[in-house]
Amino acid sequence: MTMRIERYEKAFLGVGAGMLVIFLLALGFTSISMGINLPGRAGEIDPASVRAIPPFNNPGVRELGPGRYEVVMVASAWAFQPNEIRVPAGSEVTFMATTTDVIHGLHVDGTLVNMMLIPGQVSRNTYRFDEPGEHLMVCHEFCGVGHHIMSGKVVVE
Ligand code: CUA
Repeated sequence: MTMRIERYEKAFLGVGAGMLVIFLLALGFTSISMGINLPGRAGEIDPASVRAIPPFNNPGVRELGPGRYEVVMVASAWAFQPNEIRVPAGSEVTFMATTTDVIHGLHVDGTLVNMMLIPGQVSRNTYRFDEPGEHLMVCHEFCGVGHHIMSGKVVVE
């Protein structure tokens, strides 16, 4: 009886170790081959004075150079500012975003832009919009009664 339990224990340990190896390989594969990484923590900011601190005192879309854009975004309950972003197809867009109140999310549908916006932190993520079309932009962290209306769009022209 004792022998048998040990054998099962060994098998379970083997399964656990095998899964760990598979998960680490999957993580390595997605980050190296597919470019899927955690969004960068781009800085710290006082959440109470976000609207007074550059560049967040002037949210919007700016052209940085040929085909390169920056979106400075302020999230607050329950809106994104700006809530409509227009860029030409083929643009590389860097999102710099933060929140003035609670935790919000920023997910641009059909892209790898998927960030948490945490009070006191600036989140940054860059994505290249190759195909013309519209992408829904939503908050995916529950942030109160207006969470479900907190959305916008990215229009690739
Ligand atoms: Cu903002 Cu949910």
